[in-house]
Amino acid sequence: MYPPNLRVYADRGQLCQSVAQRIAECVREKPDAVLGLPTGATPIAVYQELAEMCRQKTLDFSRVITFNLDEYFPMPPQSPPSYHAFMRRHLFDHVNCRRWFVPDGTARSAAQVGDDCATYEQRIQEVGGLDLVLLGIGRTGHIGFNEPGSLADTRTRLVVLAPETRADALPDFGNPNLVPSQAITMGVGTILEARAIILMASGERKADAVRQAVEGDITALVPASFLRRHPNVGIYLDMAAAQFLSAA
Ligand code: PGA
Repeated sequence: MYPPNLRVYADRGQLCQSVAQRIAECVREKPDAVLGLPTGATPIAVYQELAEMCRQKTLDFSRVITFNLDEYFPMPPQSPPSYHAFMRRHLFDHVNCRRWFVPDGTARSAAQVGDDCATYEQRIQEVGGLDLVLLGIGRTGHIGFNEPGSLADTRTRLVVLAPETRADALPDFGNPNLVPSQAITMGVGTILEARAIILMASGERKADAVRQAVEGDITALVPASFLRRHPNVGIYLDMAAAQFLSAA
């Protein structure tokens, strides 16, 4: 038997539909909800669903506030592979959200980045904290860009990307030398303070990380495993991502 907070769908399409419904419910219940949002291949269809709901006026993002999990560094926001540009392309050009924040990847000193990371955290607190965070999982077991070794109390900060993560990013850059080696990410501690969390994973390539996160030790070597300490986390998988779970 799967744990009650784990749902397995036939394919990515159904998984994304269900995640979009969950987010829509959150926003309908609390029109000024504060959301944490990911980038990546998996959430694209979730954002399409949300955009369609906004287009049909069954959902209103005008009072929603969002904070993205991460951004490459250095990375000008207007650059096409930036997560800022991704979010515009896949969500914010299509929904009526006015207050959306993505960590700023503009090149600057580490000290300035540190100050801006503290401001990012403060801004989340000022609007009442995160109501719902949507997360993907990397092959390394990362959430946001919290790679193996990230502790449970980490905050928004500059990090070094794992080699697997940089390899997975290659299609967006075309040349390994162009893939940034660093990023700014919300911390594991920042994520765990959210009132609700959704972890979504799709495809066979994620199955091993999912197994370690759901059934392995709770350890900084698999940062997604820390989510099991959270009282309100939903794990949404497709069958391919769930295939190594012992209950499957
Ligand atoms: P993906 O990435 O959605 O592109 O698979 C998720 C992640 O690495 O966090």
